Formats: sequence, structure tokens, C-alpha cells
Amino acid sequence: MRKPIIAGNWKMNKTVGEARELVTALKDKLADVTDVEIAVAPPFTALSAAAEAIRGSNIKLAAQDMYWEEEGAFTGEVSPLMLKDVGCQYVIIGHSERRTYFSETNETVNKKVKAAHAYSLNPIVCVGERLEERESGVTKDVVKDHVVNGLADLTEEQIRNTVVAYEPVWAIGTGKTATPEQAQEVHRFIRELLTQIYSLTVAEAVRIQYGGSVKPDNVAQLMAQPDIDGGLIGGASLDADSFTQIVKFPGC
Ligand code: 13P
Repeated sequence: MRKPIIAGNWKMNKTVGEARELVTALKDKLADVTDVEIAVAPPFTALSAAAEAIRGSNIKLAAQDMYWEEEGAFTGEVSPLMLKDVGCQYVIIGHSERRTYFSETNETVNKKVKAAHAYSLNPIVCVGERLEERESGVTKDVVKDHVVNGLADLTEEQIRNTVVAYEPVWAIGTGKTATPEQAQEVHRFIRELLTQIYSLTVAEAVRIQYGGSVKPDNVAQLMAQPDIDGGLIGGASLDADSFTQIVKFPGC
């Protein structure tokens, strides 16, 4: 059985004070949740304060990106060692916004994924097609390219400790969620790819999150799909009540 994982990707939002306030509220509201793994990904500047505020709770800390080197002359970058040091257990890698605005490629994603594992950080690796790709019928080719190349050369243990986040780009921040059937089809496809690359046992153990306009009113239908094992939540994770409703989705 895969334990669902619901993570809030705060993107470039929240000052230190606001982050502290949000996680403090979440800590209280989510204290009774045991059947869903919960994570929040504040911006780098708020990681330390968030780590302090969630100490002793069931909320885990994630970063939104990282570089693959441990230290050195890489101005502006943050290393896996630093993320580990501040208390992160997860790191989002290859988000479509990073691919679109910051030239992230499958190759850099793969370097980061390997570096994350080298520091025992669990990567949440984002994959997904753009609208024109879906419309031209190449969704599965794009997703296959992201999965095969972004997750290349991982050991069985590493892939088991990797979360894949399927985020159709056209559904991110648009209010246009993939239908549960559309999402399930791609999640199933990802699990089949993992079966081919690794084995059925390994593929069955990997959690695949859905991301893209997940809200309190659509989370239950998405989570009811057999291959959807959680959510990566953007906008709706910025508010304590809506993120709480998503984590405590009906039927969970
Ligand atoms: P929204 O939930 O705002 O659509 O963002 C999804 C996302 O990109 C999470 O990483």
C-alpha cells in the first residue's frame, strides 16, 4: 500500500513572518492526520523559520529546487547539504516553471535527482506536457521523455524514494484541472514505464502525485483514482483552511 503524499508548493510566496504564521496554523489543523504524508515547500528564505515552527509535528519540509554540487562558486545556488542542514526531507525538482523560465532540462533534472539521493533527500520530480503538446497528441511522448531521462540510472532503492509529480502544464494555476480520467491515464502510463525500467514490485511502490489546480472541491475525485497517490498543490496551499481541506479530503 502506498501512503498518499500531499505537498504544498508555495512557489515565490510568503515572507518569513507569513510562512511562520501559515505553518503554525497548519501544525494545529493537521495534527490528527496520520494516513497522509504532509509536506510544505516554502521559499528558501523561509525554510529555517518553517523548520523551527513544524518541529515535532507531522509536517515535513521540502525545498522547491537545489543545485547538484555540495558547495563552491555557484552564486545564487543552494546545495543539497544546505537543504539537509536546514531540515528538508524532500526537494521538488524539475517543476515546469523551472523548465520554462530557468532552462531546466532533463539532464539537469537527472543531476539534481542523483544529488538529492546522495544526501538522502527525497526528490519530488515534476513531469508533464504543455497545452500544445496535449493538443498535438504527444502527451505520452513528452511524459516518457521526462521520466526516462529525468530519472535515468537510479538504483531500485533510489526510485522507491522518489516521488513523481504529474503536472500537466496547462492545468497549473489556470483553474483548469485535468479530469480524474485524464490524470489517471497518464499516472497509469508512468507506472507502466517504471515497470518496464525497474519491475512491477518497484513501480507499485513509487508514489505518483497529481498537480495542477487541485482544490478542496476536486481533490477527492482525483485521489479516488487507483494510480493517483497524492497531490502537489500550488495556489490552494497558501491558505491554511484550503490546504487543510485538501489534506483531509473526504474518503481519506
Ligand atoms: P496550482 O495548484 O496553483 O495550479 O499549481 C500547481 C503546481 O504547480 C504545484 O507544483
